[in-house]
Amino acid sequence: MLEDAFADIIGKARFGKAWSLTELKGRSNIDEARITALEEEAPPVQDEVIRLAEALALDPIKLSEIAGAEWEPQIAPPYLVEADADAGKDMIYVIDGRIGSYPVNGYFFIDWKEGVCVLFDTGYSPTKVLAFLKETGLSLVAVCLTHAHPDHIGGIQEIQSQVAVPVYLSANEVSEKIALKNHIGVEEKMTIGVGRFEITSRSTPGHTDGGTTYYMDTAPIVPKKLAFVGDALFAGSIGRAKTSETYSTLLNSVKEVILSFPPETLLFPGHGPVTTVAEEQRHNPFFPA
Ligand SMILES: [Fe+2]
Repeated sequence: MLEDAFADIIGKARFGKAWSLTELKGRSNIDEARITALEEEAPPVQDEVIRLAEALALDPIKLSEIAGAEWEPQIAPPYLVEADADAGKDMIYVIDGRIGSYPVNGYFFIDWKEGVCVLFDTGYSPTKVLAFLKETGLSLVAVCLTHAHPDHIGGIQEIQSQVAVPVYLSANEVSEKIALKNHIGVEEKMTIGVGRFEITSRSTPGHTDGGTTYYMDTAPIVPKKLAFVGDALFAGSIGRAKTSETYSTLLNSVKEVILSFPPETLLFPGHGPVTTVAEEQRHNPFFPA
């Protein structure tokens, strides 16, 4: 199931443009009440999809596919199975978290051979994180936070009360409300080691000011490329821009950083299913062909 439906996509795009309903009516020739209904998940007809896509600078064909539920990425686990040790164990473990009833993803990347792992966002689930560490006996060498929204960092204090671990988060995300022990202000193109592998941080602001994507190229051991993108991108959509002023920043972050990784790169978003760069280039309506 995609994180965002047609209704979410047009709502995010209109918010990003800072357009009133009247302004969008003027550009799409669809009246205000009908736009409101569509943003509240009334099913659109094809002509409405096309007119709204053209008005909001979305790709009409890609938007039609999502409106018609004709596409979602089919990337199922195991995402990454190491060939040379402990064959059969996935090197990615997904924390299927909830904040209230809203699902949120955190992810472990694991080097089984070296017995170490890194955590990308908490998934608002410190109990699950600590239970996984206890069950596996793995040593947690870093926590890499994509941004500081509560569903992504909630429980970090509880984790840090049990495990001494450095926490990477952009200094632009840290406020006095967020007390992190052992904080490292992550910056563009820092490298973070995890066993035999290396993570590279990339700055992807727009959803928040210090949004960070963590990229890994695991070649030659298991030749895959991975990116943990937080809420910059969802399969077939993007996160909500912090303000309409940062909408173009967010689109730029996704286009210039995330969609510029090699096409086969697996993308692990903060919400919804796993996707790839190639899938998003072909199907994400925020990036017209
Ligand atoms: Fe967020």
